[in-house]
Amino acid sequence: MTVPPATRVIETRVIEAGAAAADAAAAAQDAARTLAGGGLVAFPTETVYGLGADATSGAAVARLYQAKGRPSFNPLIAHVADLAAARALARFDRDAERLAAAFWPGPLTLVLPRHTPCLVAELATAGLDTIAVRVPSHPLARAILAAFHRPVVAPSANRSGHVSPTTAQHVLADLNGRIELVVDGGPTPMGLESTIVACLDGAMLLRPGALPRAEIERLVALGEPPPGAAASSDADDVPIAPGQLASHYAPRARLRLDAASVERGEALLAFGSVPAQGAARATMALNLSPRGDLIEAAANLFSYLRALDAAGVAAIAVMPVPHEGLGEAINDRLTRAAAPRP
Ligand code: TXA
Ligand code: MG
Repeated sequence: MTVPPATRVIETRVIEAGAAAADAAAAAQDAARTLAGGGLVAFPTETVYGLGADATSGAAVARLYQAKGRPSFNPLIAHVADLAAARALARFDRDAERLAAAFWPGPLTLVLPRHTPCLVAELATAGLDTIAVRVPSHPLARAILAAFHRPVVAPSANRSGHVSPTTAQHVLADLNGRIELVVDGGPTPMGLESTIVACLDGAMLLRPGALPRAEIERLVALGEPPPGAAASSDADDVPIAPGQLASHYAPRARLRLDAASVERGEALLAFGSVPAQGAARATMALNLSPRGDLIEAAANLFSYLRALDAAGVAAIAVMPVPHEGLGEAINDRLTRAAAPRP
């Protein structure tokens, strides 16, 4: 699969998918083809418009972060066609089973322990060991998921910091020229994001949303989230769980950033062309992107950190990564990973 770079302006196509079932089927086929090619597709859900990418492709997910202009890798919701597809990604406890049975398909997102291995790209969950999953009820969203046969990550289809879009026009105002396709299904029925409930060690409400709290509490007891762990519905650039609900992935190895050379005993996490000395001395070397492509680097970041850890290296020299575009989010994550642990 070749993934087109997101930096150049792309032509954003709009397909109208009205009430007729034939329209929906054609739109879903088009959307599935576009997703399969690594493209970005905005589509309506019952809550707000989502910006979809193939959840199994790190490169497609990296392009999505870039198109939204997110300054950091906030984890994304994996949208799937049904409960069986959700079970393939995450572990359901009793609370999760009950909530899914009662409210899926519908405006409820569950944050659950992620299976390892998991089909969804590491970048989509920002290195967390949990994953947010949801089965939407909007007929167009369902048709697209059924046609694509794979999970689709979809944050609200707005630029970072803007409010969630409830019409195709809102989507275009923010993302025209940055994404391949908008499936226009008219205004979204609910206009408010999904309610997010974590079922990890007991259930807790992370984000109030389109499904009222009282409906959830009829089935499961909701504990209080730790301070700072709840999000407002439009705070999609601020992670809900800053290292409290589920720890952000942090390598065991010590990271030395902006390394100009490799010290004895260090592994190398490279970017771009590597000075000959670096390659020779490193105990192990992985290159985020030999051609210096930030999208490719973002796609590889979390899995390469894990691979270096799995190999048991004690220290990693990390070559400088430019701060432009996705480099900002890459450097943000590397800086956290390099911070001393308590
Ligand atoms: O209604 C919705 O949920 C829409 C439609 C398109 O489905 N999507 C949406 O996605 O609102 P987004 O990315 O704008 O908001 C998802 C929120 C973010 O605040 C993110 O931090 C949180 O979910 N989230 C995702 N995965 C998480 C995880 N594993 N743990 C904690 N929070 C998570
Ligand atoms: Mg959002």
